[in-house]
Amino acid sequence: MARPAIPIQLRNEPENNLPPDQSAAVADVLHRLKGVPGALLPILHGVQEALGYVPPDAVHLIALALNISRAEVHGVISFYHHFRSKPVARHVLYLCRAEACQSMGAVALEAHAKKILGIDFHESTADGAITLEPVYCLGNCACSPAVMLDQELHGRMTVEKFDSLIQATRQTA
Ligand code: FES
Repeated sequence: MARPAIPIQLRNEPENNLPPDQSAAVADVLHRLKGVPGALLPILHGVQEALGYVPPDAVHLIALALNISRAEVHGVISFYHHFRSKPVARHVLYLCRAEACQSMGAVALEAHAKKILGIDFHESTADGAITLEPVYCLGNCACSPAVMLDQELHGRMTVEKFDSLIQATRQTA
């Protein structure tokens, strides 16, 4: 028989500076995942999925829940490009920089993307529409160069297709 769920209360932790909604989201992730083997990575993925990033103020709470140091949590966040410590825009655009895509024009596409969006990797456009992130293979090498917008893959990307995608994305909420 499954053990009854024991809710994790973070609101009253002495160093919990998260706003209530974020605190509740982090507590939910910790409650669901702190018992799984190698819980740190699943927890970081869970927090980023729930909030769009891993707030610096969540590091202490995660460390506390797993009985590890803040430095360990911070080390994993900074090691993996995937994790973000700042909020993201409404849409996240991942641009593949790995070999197959590079051989099919990803370098020029990257330069174009940065110019058109007016931002570098890990930054968001001024209108809050798009965050640009690098990624190292989207598993779509046969259709290089590839990008992923939110959860949707787009292959054989050209400058023209890219511009259309950005224009369409900006028109959505
Ligand atoms: S190298 Fe870009 S999708 Fe695999």
